[in-house]
Amino acid sequence: MNVTREMKSFPFDLLLDADPSFENVKEYLERGECYIANQNGKVIGVYVLLQKGSSVEIVNIAIDESDRGQGIGTKLLQDALLRAKQMGAETVEIGTGNSSIGQLALYQKCGFRMMEIQHGYFEDYDEDIIENGIVCRDRIRLSVSIN
Ligand SMILES: CC(C)(COP(=O)(O)OP(=O)(O)OC[C@H]1O[C@@H](n2cnc3c(N)ncnc32)[C@H](O)[C@@H]1OP(=O)(O)O)[C@@H](O)C(=O)NCCC(=O)NCCS
Repeated sequence: MNVTREMKSFPFDLLLDADPSFENVKEYLERGECYIANQNGKVIGVYVLLQKGSSVEIVNIAIDESDRGQGIGTKLLQDALLRAKQMGAETVEIGTGNSSIGQLALYQKCGFRMMEIQHGYFEDYDEDIIENGIVCRDRIRLSVSIN
């Protein structure tokens, strides 16, 4: 697998898997840095970084459905932490829904700790999001120090 910065051919199918808001995705692609993971000529993953002062936020991360559960998400998160460090960041943030049990597990396994709950964050989305039988309403912000 090799990870490279992508400036124009963004994998929207993957990006929208992580964030169903096309408006949000378009907006942060303009301001952030998008990295894609390729394996045997196929895009298998993506993440987007957005710098905010001394912190970098992973605003999107997604792995192709057929390639999940093999440690690729973990590898991309580690790659994102390394790049954030090279960007001079002291902390890296990530946010996910209250219903995203697997993501909450993965981020904590990668060292992230819960910082804040943004109550009702997902209630403005056009369609209800239900995962693991749980309605997604609130956003959990997590962060890790990379000093
Ligand atoms: C989230 C996502 C990026 C993870 O990628 P992945 O390649 O499947 O992740 P990995 O295989 O590296 O690791 C998943 C880890 O989470 C753990 N995990 C997942 N679900 C879990 C659960 N319910 N309980 C405990 N651990 C869980 C796995 O056990 C694994 O940890 P391990 O390596 O210690 O076993 C991927 O599922 C995805 O693209 N999802 C859709 C988009 C998305 O939701 N993006 C994030 C938006 S916030």
